[in-house]
Amino acid sequence: MFKPDLLLNRRILITGGGTGLGKGAAQKFLELGAEVYICGRREEVLQATAQELHQRTGGRIHPLRCDVRDPAAVDEMIASIWAGGPLDALMNNAAGNFLARTEDLSLGAFQSVIGIVLMGSLHTTLACGRRWLAARHHAAVLNITTTYTTTGSAYVVPSAVAKAGVHSLTRSLAVEWGNRGIRMNAIAPGPIPTEGAFSRLLPRPELEEAAKQRNPLGRFGTVEEFANLAAFLLSDASSYINGEVVTMDGGEWLQGAGEFTALGRQLTEAEWQMMKPRKK
Ligand code: HXC
Ligand code: NAP
Repeated sequence: MFKPDLLLNRRILITGGGTGLGKGAAQKFLELGAEVYICGRREEVLQATAQELHQRTGGRIHPLRCDVRDPAAVDEMIASIWAGGPLDALMNNAAGNFLARTEDLSLGAFQSVIGIVLMGSLHTTLACGRRWLAARHHAAVLNITTTYTTTGSAYVVPSAVAKAGVHSLTRSLAVEWGNRGIRMNAIAPGPIPTEGAFSRLLPRPELEEAAKQRNPLGRFGTVEEFANLAAFLLSDASSYINGEVVTMDGGEWLQGAGEFTALGRQLTEAEWQMMKPRKK
């Protein structure tokens, strides 16, 4: 759907780019001509992904081990990238999440997820942003949130509060830095099957089926659909889009938020007939 040079020579960092949606986006960006940096905590995963995607696309991809919770490590990584030239785009995609009852969570559990999702995004954004602003270099940032950033969600509270912070960071900096050439947008995906997310959040196949049934489109999203949207939002094709959070969930959250949706599903045909206006 894109011209093959859409991201030609764009230098893009994807945090958490070794797996799942980040890996899918890395492949798409490489296919569109970008030079891609991926980071994560597991060196072997990053190396394997870089090798696989290079073989598949012939593109330039660099694996960098980095825990985004550590601001010094992030700054060191960003400095090492900048040694070869500035980045043109940053995709804050690394995340941590799990299902748990909030009252059972330790402070460490909160710190771990908030550290990865909110503080991690802040560390990379500041490390890149300060360099971009100083050099008047135009750039784009894409944050990956979720559909529950605005509604909240039970049983994933550390993630919900952290993603809400990222949502707010997106909109705040879009305004603060927009006049200096830095665009800041986000994608809020609904469920897209990845090992990382589904193993932690949908532990039984029946739950997967129920999640599919709840979606107006009756299916999950795909990595390809996500990667296409990410490429668009980081490219000049979207150059007037700033501060936007694009929901990509098949309409799932609207259905979940609909006051009478669940009730309506439970009514029988006879009950629907009874609700019709009475003939005078
Ligand atoms: C309760 C838990 C827990 C769980 C860990 N902890 N898992 N508490 N229930 N299932 C607690 C630990 O006891 C510990 O607390 C603290 O959290 C840190 O755990 P560690 O294992 O030491 O942390 P770490 O190795 O840093 O791992 C981070 C992680 C892990 C977040 C816990 O899940 C991870 O590495 N995740 C990365 C990938 C991921 O989550 N992908 C899914 C993204 S999907 P103490 O008190 O001992 O310190 C997503 C949105 C999906 O975000 C939306 C779908 C629609
Ligand atoms: P994933 O494969 O588990 O991706 C998470 C990535 O983050 C991993 O590569 C992980 O690598 C990296 N990571 C975790 N902690 C890190 C840290 N401290 N420092 C650096 N990297 C770290 O899951 P995914 O489904 O692709 O999720 C990608 C993004 O989409 C996340 O932001 C997630 O919240 C969002 N999302 C996903 C879905 C979905 O249904 N899949 C829905 C909504 C939103 P290491 O473990 O090697 O560090």
